[in-house]
Amino acid sequence: MSGSNGTEAEIADTALPKPEGLEGVVAAATALSHVFGEEGRLVYRGYDIHELAGKASFEEVAFLLWNGRLPDRRQLDDLRQRLGANRDLPEPVLATLRALPADAAPMDALRTGVSALGASAHGLFDESPDLDEAIALAARVPSILAAFFRLRQGQDPIPPRPDLNTAQSYLYQLFDREPEPRHWRPLDVYLVLLADHGMNASTFTARVIASTQSDLCSAITGAVGALKGPLHGGAPSKVLDMLNEIGSVDNVEAWLTHALDTNARLMGFGHRVYKAEDPRAEILRGMAEQASDPAFFALSKTTEERALALLAERKPGRRLYTNVEFYSAAVLAAVGLPGDMFTPTFAVSRTVGWTAHVLEQVANNRLIRPQSEFVGPTGKHFAPIDAR
Ligand code: ACO
Repeated sequence: MSGSNGTEAEIADTALPKPEGLEGVVAAATALSHVFGEEGRLVYRGYDIHELAGKASFEEVAFLLWNGRLPDRRQLDDLRQRLGANRDLPEPVLATLRALPADAAPMDALRTGVSALGASAHGLFDESPDLDEAIALAARVPSILAAFFRLRQGQDPIPPRPDLNTAQSYLYQLFDREPEPRHWRPLDVYLVLLADHGMNASTFTARVIASTQSDLCSAITGAVGALKGPLHGGAPSKVLDMLNEIGSVDNVEAWLTHALDTNARLMGFGHRVYKAEDPRAEILRGMAEQASDPAFFALSKTTEERALALLAERKPGRRLYTNVEFYSAAVLAAVGLPGDMFTPTFAVSRTVGWTAHVLEQVANNRLIRPQSEFVGPTGKHFAPIDAR
């Protein structure tokens, strides 16, 4: 209630900004990464993403995000060794994954696996998240996914190889063969591109959970749940579904027109913060052109061009551009991953960003506890059940 009859507290309450979906609200201070939405720029710890993609390995970027600086060779070797030594899954985690039905979604299996890890690996995780725990968890996320991927096909999980880097080891554990450079190299670049992204929904979730002084596995379990939704990380397999449904370049216009006529969202377009092209989309487009089947790339490119034209026509002023998910689909498919492993593979990368944010949150913590705008009634009187 507001106006001349409202109390001071009520007036102060109504004066608070209430942007839909917290748009524009600053929820935390971070030195990790920032999305410059108007310019279409992404910066990790001072480095523009173009400085890192294709030059730094995923492990170098993980060190950068966790420690605030790029590693020297000894520090990088040490991190690689620690990640390699941390890939084994405790038996209760494997037993939990074995108990899941084969048709469970891999993101659900990951959420369950991270939670099971928190419940069963007490020597590794306690109530105070630190860098050792971040490494212990980031190393095990690919193992959880690969184990579930094999178990659902009736195959045994492959023991990890400590000598391999993250991209190689993940592919090795999924497919039980030495990964080829044409597969692991694009995957390594993909992991670099997706490692952090300002105050996105899943990162915010992780920070909220960490701010209650909960544990790291709880924070990352929550973040996996937030990432799963199609308005956040769940879009790339839907991009693949869309491209498969479109089927051929000849069908692009009709398919997109029908989708927009029926108010459907085109997956892989639009972003809360970017009002210019997502720089990661630009890099992934180049990678997709190199890595994917030429016919599939032509279909993707034509779909993108027509979607951008139609969105500009139908949603003038909305500034809807290609987002990271659109070409992630082509790149991850070319790496050999099935569609339902796309978002989980995003999580392999983002676990580094999430854990770095948790460490930043706990280093200078205050409980995150916002207000809500109360829009319900007050003053009702209880009636016993038989009198209602
Ligand atoms: N297709 C069609 N219309 C769209 C799209 C789209 N992909 N994205 C936004 N719009 C339209 C909306 O219909 C709305 O139009 P209206 O005001 O005329 O009703 C307007 O643009 C603004 O949309 P909002 O939902 O308010 O924008 P918001 O900032 O909340 O959403 C989001 C951003 C969720 C990413 C949105 O663009 C979307 O749904 N995209 C498709 C899903 C997708 O690609 N998700 C991956 C995001 S990237 C990531 O998180 C890693």
